Amino acid sequence: MALPGVTALRTRDLKPRIGTEILADKAALLSGEHADTLRELLEQRGVLVFPEIGLTDDEQVAFTETLGAFAPERTGEKLYNVTLDTNVNSSADYLKGSLYWHIDGTMNEVPIRASLLSSRVLPADGGGDTEFCNTYAAYDALGDDDKVALDGLTVMHSAWNTLFYFEPEPELTHLRKMMRIGDKELPLVWTHKSGRKSLVLGCTARHVVDTDYRRSAELLVRLRDWATQPEFVYRHQWSVGDLVIWDNTGTMHRAMPYDPDSGRLLTRTKLEGEESFA
Ligand SMILES: [Fe+2]
Repeated sequence: MALPGVTALRTRDLKPRIGTEILADKAALLSGEHADTLRELLEQRGVLVFPEIGLTDDEQVAFTETLGAFAPERTGEKLYNVTLDTNVNSSADYLKGSLYWHIDGTMNEVPIRASLLSSRVLPADGGGDTEFCNTYAAYDALGDDDKVALDGLTVMHSAWNTLFYFEPEPELTHLRKMMRIGDKELPLVWTHKSGRKSLVLGCTARHVVDTDYRRSAELLVRLRDWATQPEFVYRHQWSVGDLVIWDNTGTMHRAMPYDPDSGRLLTRTKLEGEESFA
């Protein structure tokens, strides 16, 4: 039983290797009282779920600020509307890539530390779950031969690569627009400052550098299959008011398909990155 004046944090693991549900008093969360514990849990568990906590936009911003340096959008806005409705989000087309496994911001010098998503409106007829996989756990479970073989490999990541996932024959102007976002060569295995290692994969992964084209494609697909096996994956089925945080440096995620006209709306905030891919 909690002592008077002391607010408890109750946790429950959702899957052995990924995901923890957090039950806590909203005021205590907003005060930052649990921030250190939550940051530690986030790194260890990859995904934290706060069921139906019902944060307002302002509360979501305030809570995000308790966990680290707040990362505003490129537009300077603090919140981003995740929706396929182009009336709400003029760049909704880019989100079509979010239906495929990815890490947020692989084109950035320092990828964001974490993303926070609150659900506002959900499709009436279902769909639109979000899946997460733990790329630390996936690396750890590889055989020693693979760990040796992958050591030192780098992968070219390109935003435009994702275009071919949802538009196999894009117009040249569209391809060039996506190409302007850039390309980045990243290590296949990220050795974090903590000493832990994670896999860097996802739909921006174009090819393994200096590797035969077929072998490169085969390796990227094999590793994606490996990292997204059920034992490393948590699938979140949203209720309105849920808040989910994921460690963007140790997980990949994807949205499951949903009707673009369903009105599905999630609100995202982000924590500034703390270390570059290395
Ligand atoms: Fe994303």
